[in-house]
Amino acid sequence: MKKEETYQLLYKQIESLLSGEDDMIAAMSNMAAMLHNTFHFWWTGFYRVAHNAKSNDNHSELILGPFQGPVACMHIGFGKGVCGTAWKERRTVVVPDVEQFPGHIACSSESRSEIVVPIFSNADVVAVLDIDSRELGTFDETDARWTEKIVALLPTRKANALEHPAAEIHLAAGCFWGAEKYLKLIHGVTFTEVGFANGNTQSPTYEEVYTDTTGYAETVHLRYDPSVVSLRFLLQMYFKAIDPTSLNKQGEDEGTRYRTGIYYSNAADRAVIDEVVAEEARKYDKPLHVEVEPLRNFYPADEYHQDYLDKHPNGYCHLPVALFELARNAKQ
Ligand code: SME
Repeated sequence: MKKEETYQLLYKQIESLLSGEDDMIAAMSNMAAMLHNTFHFWWTGFYRVAHNAKSNDNHSELILGPFQGPVACMHIGFGKGVCGTAWKERRTVVVPDVEQFPGHIACSSESRSEIVVPIFSNADVVAVLDIDSRELGTFDETDARWTEKIVALLPTRKANALEHPAAEIHLAAGCFWGAEKYLKLIHGVTFTEVGFANGNTQSPTYEEVYTDTTGYAETVHLRYDPSVVSLRFLLQMYFKAIDPTSLNKQGEDEGTRYRTGIYYSNAADRAVIDEVVAEEARKYDKPLHVEVEPLRNFYPADEYHQDYLDKHPNGYCHLPVALFELARNAKQ
């Protein structure tokens, strides 16, 4: 079978094996096994971007993750070797002859050629896939294209959330597909996921919430870096994307699940939220219907709904395109 066809088949197999899995390490383990056993590479595995707790300056580095093959280096610095270069330059690096790559890290003298593919969550590199071969020139454009497609199947959101234990807020702004796309464009937002907040049942599914009987609101969970963007600014941007005077209806989407709401997990945020809501209220001569409550519960929606409009650029969106431009250029 030609390489292209092998990848096509393998992609389908990995896609179905990983469907519904949200643990990145588990997914990486089986992905490494499937790639390795299909192509019989010398070494196939992952390095994760993680904080090195032992270091004084608390820097991030690549730390060995799930792999198949012989023992490998456990720590690789930013910009070091092929792996650190792919991380730093945020691009796939194909090395036909490792001896010709300045700074190549030889974990094993058997390795002759290599490909390293960065793995992104939102805009951040959270890991790399590294594949080594005992022959020269094993990897080309076909491998680059397919491995990039394959690693995009990894559930990386949790890893990113752990790397950014920053401030957070949950915002309901109507249909969460468009709301997530808009909010994650704002400079300083480090992580987003869509889900269901402040309802009355356990682990609701999208279909259950769709019946409009569970009390849940379609909500975007945001983490942000407060040294880059303030909660005040995020809330001001949020108000630009909603009609705060509309009760249980945003765009054409109607129902309590599409209500607007600001749900906070840090009690100290309440004061800022109340101020911004009061400032916004002065702009209207009708009452606002934006719910402000402590976050009682939040369940992430299925992978299908995460980053939906990135996966389906022509998919349904209740927000006007101009808003995305606004968010993209919005800097505090
Ligand atoms: N050769 C890699 C190091 C990892 S091992 O090959 C598994 C590099 O230069 O980054």
